[in-house]
Amino acid sequence: MLTSMYRVLYICLFILFQLSEGSNITSQSFVTSSCNFILNNNLYDLSPLTLTDGRSYKTSNSLLKFDYIFNICGYATECKNKYSTRRDSQACSLFPLPVQIGDTNTEIAVENPNGITLSYTGSDFLCSRSNDLVFTCDESTDITVVGAQAHRCKYTVNIRSKYACPIKPTPKPTLSPQPKPPRPKPSNCVFQGSSENTFFDFTKLKNITYQANVGYIDSGYYTYYTLFFSICGEISVCTKYNQQNPDVYYQSCQVYLNQNQSIQTGDPSIVQDTLIRNGIRLNYQATEIYSGCLRNINLILSCDKDEEFTIGQAKEISPCAYEIPIVSLYACPFSYDSSSSSSSSGGGSPYSSSSSSSETPTSTCIIDSNITESPYGFNLSALSGSNHPYYIAKYQNDLYGDFNLLFSVCQGKVDKCQQYNQLSGNSTSYQSCQVYNDKYSIQTGTPSLLSYETSPTGISLLYKSNMYSNSIAKQNKLNLVCNSTTDFDIESTSIQKSILQVNINSRYACPSQCVFRDNSTGKSIDLSPLILPNNGAYEAKFQSYSLYFTFCGQIDICLKYEQQIPGMGPYQSCQLLMGVKPPLAVQTGKSTSLQVTVSTYATKLNYTSDSFPCGSGHYRYNILNLACDPTTDYKIISTNESPFCNYEINISTKYACPR
Ligand SMILES: *[C@@H]1O[C@H](CO)[C@@H](O)[C@H](O)[C@H]1NC(C)=O
Ligand SMILES: *[C@@H]1O[C@H](CO)[C@@H](O)[C@H](O)[C@H]1NC(C)=O
Ligand SMILES: *[C@@H]1O[C@H](CO)[C@@H](O)[C@H](O)[C@H]1NC(C)=O
Ligand SMILES: *[C@@H]1O[C@H](CO)[C@@H](O)[C@H](O)[C@H]1NC(C)=O
Ligand SMILES: *[C@@H]1O[C@H](CO)[C@@H](O)[C@H](O)[C@H]1NC(C)=O
Ligand SMILES: *[C@@H]1O[C@H](CO)[C@@H](O)[C@H](O)[C@H]1NC(C)=O
Ligand SMILES: *[C@@H]1O[C@H](CO)[C@@H](O)[C@H](O)[C@H]1NC(C)=O
Ligand SMILES: *[C@@H]1O[C@H](CO)[C@@H](O)[C@H](O)[C@H]1NC(C)=O
Ligand SMILES: *[C@@H]1O[C@H](CO)[C@@H](O)[C@H](O)[C@H]1NC(C)=O
Ligand SMILES: *[C@@H]1O[C@H](CO)[C@@H](O)[C@H](O)[C@H]1NC(C)=O
Repeated sequence: MLTSMYRVLYICLFILFQLSEGSNITSQSFVTSSCNFILNNNLYDLSPLTLTDGRSYKTSNSLLKFDYIFNICGYATECKNKYSTRRDSQACSLFPLPVQIGDTNTEIAVENPNGITLSYTGSDFLCSRSNDLVFTCDESTDITVVGAQAHRCKYTVNIRSKYACPIKPTPKPTLSPQPKPPRPKPSNCVFQGSSENTFFDFTKLKNITYQANVGYIDSGYYTYYTLFFSICGEISVCTKYNQQNPDVYYQSCQVYLNQNQSIQTGDPSIVQDTLIRNGIRLNYQATEIYSGCLRNINLILSCDKDEEFTIGQAKEISPCAYEIPIVSLYACPFSYDSSSSSSSSGGGSPYSSSSSSSETPTSTCIIDSNITESPYGFNLSALSGSNHPYYIAKYQNDLYGDFNLLFSVCQGKVDKCQQYNQLSGNSTSYQSCQVYNDKYSIQTGTPSLLSYETSPTGISLLYKSNMYSNSIAKQNKLNLVCNSTTDFDIESTSIQKSILQVNINSRYACPSQCVFRDNSTGKSIDLSPLILPNNGAYEAKFQSYSLYFTFCGQIDICLKYEQQIPGMGPYQSCQLLMGVKPPLAVQTGKSTSLQVTVSTYATKLNYTSDSFPCGSGHYRYNILNLACDPTTDYKIISTNESPFCNYEINISTKYACPR
């Protein structure tokens, strides 16, 4: 009975006013395949029929009571919006049940006696759904749907179209002045360009073995491994060395010649192509896991009409990924469609560089004191800038050999690193590099990848590299230790795993909240030598109790006895009431509430509390009167509580002498 429903239908272009939620759909995202088919030496190009603007074809049949929505070599967006989140529907029915009928990924093309048939399968819900688009060659029409049938769950649509007329690869010259060459298949090493008529054709390079070396330092000596690769197709050189598994196919391999070892880095059939600014990136994946990872290789093919084929410097871009830049005329896209310009390279996806060429350096060398983030502030500006393009630290190491570390502190970039043979790949943003034999450099840090830790005794800057060498992105840690006797002095170097450490003495590593300036004379005092390790406290004995305090920064002892209001914040000082059990800490000064006056012979620090008002009124405060005495490191002269809840401690110290 259903078969008797064969009748002429109408077709309409179903305009969608609501594209999918929020996303910006460009026309390309509707197209799933090129829609060009070579079948039995006949070329069919149905691509003009692919709807690329979000619309769909729709047939309606009131007798059948079904609406059937479809696209040709593309997505039917309406299938997604209303009835399903599936993105990959080529066709769906709207009634009686909204279900997918065709999945774009299942497309099969065969020739029929009068044209070409595209078949798709879809959802298995209740029955196995599928649809055939049966195209009949008809030079008189772009597209006319002459019939649609549904039998069980199989939909058949009959379409007449001039695009279903085969194009012979060798048409008679008189008929067609500019015959189109046959469209190549991707399997022949051809990749789709930015439009459906644009291609990259590497077929001339198929199965050719190329090689690139990646250098690294092993036990202090320069060595390298070789990446053998093809642009497409299989290469045999990889099998000449010891392989982990002889049963894999090689598009590329990493070969350690001295160890006679070959590691698969790409299988010829596992390739992803991505358009880049001036060409195409081919990413091949291995099938065999080696040493914990599945390797992959990226061929960055850039168009240059004057270069046959030039390989740039290969590098590692992650522990198991390799990148090889290539400049070649074959990486210039070309078009089969004479009406559209062949220089269509502008339409590709924007090139997102994995290299580090445009890192902006950290904007400042000043780390503010912020009690929640970093209780100690530092001003390292004096260590960077034009006076100090870079510093050099020497390493002598049994495992890594002798080398120099060239590094900058905070802002600086070390351009010198670029002047060596860059074993971790060319970069323009070095914060540091390892230099061997005055010849080879390996990036160990880039300015933007900075983290730091602060303490009252200094600051550690940890920089990471964004380049790989021998599967490692190295790091360097600059341990700047507060030492007011020197501007900058490298005391020692060491290596911990992949982290190169440099221990540096510097006055600029003294926390800035311990440095107080006399605005009238421009001189300052630096109390950082009085900071005790581990947030330790000084004790000042009063008549019946003790006050624990520090000059700058914070102390921990009060936290231990903090019971009434936990988390009262950083203590500069507290009074410990021993009469109660356990003893009770009362905050007498907060690290951040400070008034200072500096003069030639005396400095007054007045720290105020903001917890526990004293009696009926004001908050407690404590005053440290610091008298300059060049002969004394530190000595408490007197203590006095006056008025009530205000604590005064008079101290002699050489650090209070302004310099
Ligand atoms: C959508 O993308 C196009 C091309 O990338 C862009 O010009 C346009 O501004 C985008 N529209 C929205 C709404 O994001
Ligand atoms: C070229 O590579 C293909 C697989 O990509 C392989 O079938 C063919 O044998 C190779 N040809 C040569 C000459 O190695
Ligand atoms: C490397 O290994 C292969 C396969 O085991 C072997 O045939 C070849 O002779 C070896 N080459 C060298 C130089 O040892
Ligand atoms: C990398 O830099 C070297 C000079 O240091 C240069 O000869 C080479 O062409 C560069 N390679 C790339 C891919 O830019
Ligand atoms: C301290 O750092 C925190 C977190 O980054 C921020 O919310 C706060 O405003 C900073 N305080 C000061 C005084 O800068
Ligand atoms: C940081 O140090 C530099 C150089 O020593 C100085 O010029 C600058 O004023 C300091 N900045 C601050 C905020 O203290
Ligand atoms: C301070 O630095 C100097 C110069 O590096 C060094 O000789 C001295 O031992 C350091 N002082 C301390 C306490 O580390
Ligand atoms: C010095 O002047 C600065 C800026 O005017 C001010 O913030 C600071 O508190 C003054 N220092 C002293 C010790 O008075
Ligand atoms: C110390 O600071 C407190 C709170 O700001 C203030 O009330 C007190 O007068 C100051 N004392 C001296 C001696 O500056
Ligand atoms: C502590 O020093 C201040 C300022 O130098 C002075 O006014 C006060 O008398 C001294 N107190 C004692 C008990 O010596």
